[in-house]
Amino acid sequence: MSGHFMFDGRPVPFEAGQTILEAARAAGHYIPHLCWHPDFPPHGSCKLCMVKVGGRHVSSCALEAKEGMEVESNTPEMNGERRALLQMLFVEGNHFCPSCEKSGNCQLQAQAYELEMTSARFDHFFPVRPVDASHPDILLDFNRCIFCELCVRASRDVDGKSVFALTNRGIHKHLVVNAESGQLGDTDFSADDLAANICPVGVILHKRVGFEVPIGERTYDEVPISVVSMRDKGS
Ligand code: FES
Repeated sequence: MSGHFMFDGRPVPFEAGQTILEAARAAGHYIPHLCWHPDFPPHGSCKLCMVKVGGRHVSSCALEAKEGMEVESNTPEMNGERRALLQMLFVEGNHFCPSCEKSGNCQLQAQAYELEMTSARFDHFFPVRPVDASHPDILLDFNRCIFCELCVRASRDVDGKSVFALTNRGIHKHLVVNAESGQLGDTDFSADDLAANICPVGVILHKRVGFEVPIGERTYDEVPISVVSMRDKGS
């Protein structure tokens, strides 16, 4: 079955099984997202892709499109809600953009710029999360984790290694490494793994290349994430 729904007042076609986000993207309409990736099933954790359908807030990456739906996305209300979600993500972790080597390549930072987040608004949690420098080629900085589980999914479903997992809940939730020591250096993780190259923020960093591309010339320094995302057809 296929059909049409209304997206911010414009008709968007969909095929059976397509989500609102997939159909909107196919029609050229960007919806902000962080945990969604075109190569994986929807995860539904970040909620940044939230849209309003029939007065209800729903995750557009997870909800199948249906004939006649009225979807509101790029509105002051929805962008305000997305901004609040970003502000929560920023205070839950330790995100110090000016000193982060992922600055300019970070999707969280790029979303914050595009959605005009100008303050953290909430009190910072300042969680204590040690870094892991045990691997010869990769540094893990857990301070920046947003729990999208892209590394978990990539390592398990593509690399076949299950190097990462999330543990605990709420403010105690954190990313762990699947080794008795808990250290990445004690796993068979490789810098060539998909999981080593999928982190949307600055958790999984390749050593010795951090500043090869100068700040100011990075992916989102001049082009907003909405344009990069649609241009590259990726996340
Ligand atoms: Fe849909 Fe994260 S992108 S919940």
